[in-house]
Amino acid sequence: MSNSALATATEKLNRKGFLDLEVDPTLDLVAEIEKLKKEKNAIVLAHYYQESEIQDVADYIGDSLGLSQKAVSTDAEVIVFAGVHFMAETAKMLNPHKKVLLPDLKAGCSLADSCPPHLFKKFKEKYPDHVVVSYINCTAELKTLTDVCCTSSNAEVIINSIPKDKGIIFAPDKNLGAWLQKKTGRDLVLWNGACMVHEIFSNEKITKLQVSNPDAKFIAHPECEEHILDRADFIGSTSQLLRYTKENESKKFIVATESGILHQMELASPGKIFIPAPPNNTCACNDCPHMKRNTMEKLYLSMKYELPEVVLEDWVIKKGVASIDRMLEVSAKAGFKM
Ligand code: 13P
Ligand code: SF4
Repeated sequence: MSNSALATATEKLNRKGFLDLEVDPTLDLVAEIEKLKKEKNAIVLAHYYQESEIQDVADYIGDSLGLSQKAVSTDAEVIVFAGVHFMAETAKMLNPHKKVLLPDLKAGCSLADSCPPHLFKKFKEKYPDHVVVSYINCTAELKTLTDVCCTSSNAEVIINSIPKDKGIIFAPDKNLGAWLQKKTGRDLVLWNGACMVHEIFSNEKITKLQVSNPDAKFIAHPECEEHILDRADFIGSTSQLLRYTKENESKKFIVATESGILHQMELASPGKIFIPAPPNNTCACNDCPHMKRNTMEKLYLSMKYELPEVVLEDWVIKKGVASIDRMLEVSAKAGFKM
């Protein structure tokens, strides 16, 4: 490609969030991505909510905790993050001197967006003696206002690691926060944020599914609302849900989280049936529109041209990374492994 064509594509990238270039439809993208990984000493990290083709080409697939742990342990020079913005930011904060690529910079997160740092700063001032625990699904700037991060895998352990006499602010997910209050018995001050994907499951449709599948276990992610969690046979992060479906003897599961996780569940337990819990609209399953902005074409282009890159200001990295380091420290002590 000529320099001027790339310059035009880069200009568009600023507006669109990704390199808007045509990809030859006859190209074997899997082979090309594998070649680029070797050429550039790059690793592809993918969240369970990515489309199945991306999961299949990734070097590591995991939940938010596993992905952060992998971002620390990798010796690759380039980290390509098939996930959303806050995840790539976390990888960058943990690897300030490496190149971190996100195939589409507009792959955001409704939950992270529900907690603007300038408003949270004011909220936090009302509770000066409280420890701030933030779900990792938040912006890098919010992490600079946070004492310790958590993910859905380790949230309970992180809350329990804080002395009993200390007040705790929990941000940004009110649903995960409410579930943690029940699990730990701690009185948390909750920020009023939520994930658009986990807030629209339909109780009625789930009831119908359970009536027609009485042998199915109903499992849910703790970002779901209380009325959904109350009826679940098991609640856990994406990796915990996956493990449960492998280990549980049931042959059928109704799964209340983003539908991308079903790919790994089906691969891990070929004989079992997985039914996505339906949302409150005309769709049969629930996709995160942010996660699904990534495509194989965007992944390939981003590796080829090493764009778009996630860049953070130095002060954000220095101040924010402490909350992630603290989370990884507590998790390692509690025995959380990738
Ligand atoms: P986990 O990866 O912690 O399961 O969280 C799910 C999620 O919503 C990621 O965006
Ligand atoms: Fe954010 Fe929810 Fe999408 Fe996860 S599923 S990236 S929390 S909007």
